[in-house]
Amino acid sequence: MKKYAEMTKAELQAELELVEKQYEALKDQHLSLNMARGKPGKEQLDMVSDIAEVLKADSDYMCDGIDARNYGNLEGLPSCRKLFADVLGVQPENVFIGGSASLQLMYDTIAKCYTHGRVMSDKPWGRYDVVKWLCPAPGYDRHFKVSETFGMQMITVPMTPTGPDMDVVEELIRDPEVRGMWCVPKYSNPDGIIYSEETIRRIASMKPAAKDFLLMWDNAYCIHEFFGDYVPFPDILGECAKYGNEDMVFEFASTSKITFPGAGVSVFACSVRNMDYMKKLLGAQIISYDKVNQLRHIRYFKDRDGLLALMKKHAGILGPKFRCVLDALDREIAPLGIAEWQRPNGGYFVSVNTMPGIAKATWQLCKEAGLTMTGAGATFPYGKDPKDSNMRVAPSLPPIEQLEKAMEIYCVSMRLAALRKLLAA
Ligand SMILES: Cc1ncc(COP(=O)(O)O)c(C=O)c1O
Repeated sequence: MKKYAEMTKAELQAELELVEKQYEALKDQHLSLNMARGKPGKEQLDMVSDIAEVLKADSDYMCDGIDARNYGNLEGLPSCRKLFADVLGVQPENVFIGGSASLQLMYDTIAKCYTHGRVMSDKPWGRYDVVKWLCPAPGYDRHFKVSETFGMQMITVPMTPTGPDMDVVEELIRDPEVRGMWCVPKYSNPDGIIYSEETIRRIASMKPAAKDFLLMWDNAYCIHEFFGDYVPFPDILGECAKYGNEDMVFEFASTSKITFPGAGVSVFACSVRNMDYMKKLLGAQIISYDKVNQLRHIRYFKDRDGLLALMKKHAGILGPKFRCVLDALDREIAPLGIAEWQRPNGGYFVSVNTMPGIAKATWQLCKEAGLTMTGAGATFPYGKDPKDSNMRVAPSLPPIEQLEKAMEIYCVSMRLAALRKLLAA
C-alpha cells in the first residue's frame, strides 16, 4: 500500500470509493460502541468486587486503635497514610487521605487558593484580575475544565517525548501572573509519556516569579503498567525539597483505576507546612472522610506489594486491549502515513496524532457510524487543538470483540477523513 501523500489524484479517488463502501457497510451495522473515557472494563470491576466483602456487620472496625466507623482523624487512618506513603515514596505525615476521587481534592486545592490563598500567598487568588496557568498539552481534559471553571487564563505548553517542554516553561514562569501548572508525570493522559529525570529535575528546581506558584502533580497512573514490569518513579516532594521548593507541590493519586472509579480512596501528598494549612481549612469543611472505605482498602491490599500484585492482574486484562488497538493502527493506518501514535506501557490511553486538519472530521464520522470517541480537541485548553490532529483512544471499557469492531470503524473513518481532505486540497 502506498502512502496517501504519495498517491496521484486518480489513485486517491479510487481509494475514496473503496473506503466509502467500507464505511457505509460499517454504518449499516447500526453499532453502538464507546472508546471515549478511561473507564475500567467490567472484567476489571468484577475482579475487585470482593472488596465489598472484606467488612461485614460483625467485622472488627478497629484500626490503629481507631474505630473507623466514627468521626475523627481528618487526615485519614494512619495505616492508610502509611500504605500510600509507601506507594508514593514519601512519609506518612506528608499524606492526606481524602474522599472517593482525586479530582475533587484537586478542585478543592485550587478552590482554596482562590478563597484563602496558599500558605505563602499575599492574598487569595480570587482577588487577582488575572491568574495564568500552564497546561502541558495534549493533556487531561478535566484538568483544563477545572482551570476554565475558575476563569484561569490557560497557556498551552507543548508536550515532548520527555514531558512538558521545559524551555517554554522556564520562560513562562518569569511572568508573576503565572501561578501554577498541571502535570501528569507517569503515563501522562493522553500521551502515556513518563517524564524524564531531567524534566523532573528542571520542574522541581523551578524558581517561578509567583512565590505562591502551585505545582499540581497528578500521579494518577503511578502504578498502572499494562506492559512489562513496574517502573519506579521519583518522589516529587523530595525532589522539590532539594531545591528549597518543598511547599510548591501537591501530589495526587487515587484507587479509581485500582478498585472502583468514584468509589475508591484518594490522596494528596505535600509538605508538613502545607499539610497543617490544608488541615486547618479542610477541618472547617468536613469532620473526617470515609474511614470505613479506607479500612476496606487497607484490609484488601494489605501493603504496597499487595497493591502491585493487583496491578499485575489489571495488566493481564488491559494489555491485550492495548495490543488490539496498537495492532489495528499498525496494520490499517501506519502504511498510509496519515497518523502517528504513542506506544505507552501504562496508563489508560493511546494518543493518536492524525495528519493536520482531520481529527474533528474523523470524530464525526466515527459518531455517525455508532462509535463514541473523546471529543477531538478535548486534550487541549478550551477544547481547541490548533492542528486539529490529536485524538485520545481509550481501550479499557469495551470487551475485546467490541474493541476490534470499534477500531475498524475508527481506522476506516480516519482514512475517509484523510482522503476527503487530500482530494479537497
Ligand atoms: C490524569 C488523571 N487524573 C485524575 C483522574 C481522575 O481521578 P479520580 O477518579 O481519582 O478523580 C483521571 C481519570 O481519567 C486522570 O486521567
